[in-house]
Amino acid sequence: MNKKIISVINQKGGVGKTTTVINLAAGISMQGKKILVIDLDPQGNATTGLGLSNTVNSEQTIYSVLNGNKKISEVVQTTQFENLDLITSNVDLSGLEIETAGDRRRAYILKDKLAAYLNDSEASYSYILIDCPPSLSLLTIMALVASDALVVPLQTEFFALEGLTQLMKTIERVKNNLNPDLTIRGILLTMYDRRNKLSGEVEREARNYFKEKVYQTVVPRNVRLSEAPSHGVPVLVYDKACLGSKSYFSFTDEFLSQDKLVESAA
Ligand SMILES: Nc1ncnc2c1ncn2[C@@H]1O[C@H](COP(=O)(O)OP(=O)(O)OP(=O)(O)O)[C@@H](O)[C@H]1O
Ligand SMILES: [Mg+2]
Repeated sequence: MNKKIISVINQKGGVGKTTTVINLAAGISMQGKKILVIDLDPQGNATTGLGLSNTVNSEQTIYSVLNGNKKISEVVQTTQFENLDLITSNVDLSGLEIETAGDRRRAYILKDKLAAYLNDSEASYSYILIDCPPSLSLLTIMALVASDALVVPLQTEFFALEGLTQLMKTIERVKNNLNPDLTIRGILLTMYDRRNKLSGEVEREARNYFKEKVYQTVVPRNVRLSEAPSHGVPVLVYDKACLGSKSYFSFTDEFLSQDKLVESAA
């Protein structure tokens, strides 16, 4: 499978990127496929949400890969979940932008490190999922350059679509200059509130504009989704019957079926 490095991206904060990474990773791993999550956000939310620490020293994190000290294979950690590995992050990662200022090829660092890793190692991940920070900074550009495809969570709130215009421009720029094969795999509507008319309006507008790029699955606003991270587990493990879990199980199936379609067409 060649489209396997996927970034979950939106420069808007708090739209459900990390929640999507954690639960898509959990859903895929539960189907017996191996998955690697890379936490590329100095906040380290994917790290703690999957039960690891974001306060240990940065030698074991993605930061030491991007600053040239370590290889990917040296920082991959197992989690308590079968088939689900993680490269952690912590706040030191926020220094990378300044520290690499003199490196003209710095946008390619993550891509090159991943390519070397996938070449050499026996790791047989079905997917590598990258959790991006809420900005269009160097870290996000690194993710865009390293990725085959993108999943964009879109919170069904006012201004949601306006934020997307800027993201789409950045994606186009990266496609034109740094990564011509980059594609948008899909847009996932999140935090949908059936009682709020606005949610329905944003959904209609998004489907109207982005057509079949918008996943059929819609993630509802569900308090269990916000409780799970404080227990260091995906909601699919914390409460597999809640509405939030149902939506992420359904999203996992929809995500995986995208590749089945491609494979059967080939
Ligand atoms: N569908 C949902 N229903 C209720 N709460 C949610 C839902 N999705 C995410 N949350 C909660 O909303 C907050 C933001 O979600 P999350 O951390 O996934 O967003 P993010 O886009 O990764 O944020 P950031 O931009 O800061 O990285 C978290 O507290 C999370 O637990
Ligand atoms: Mg996040």
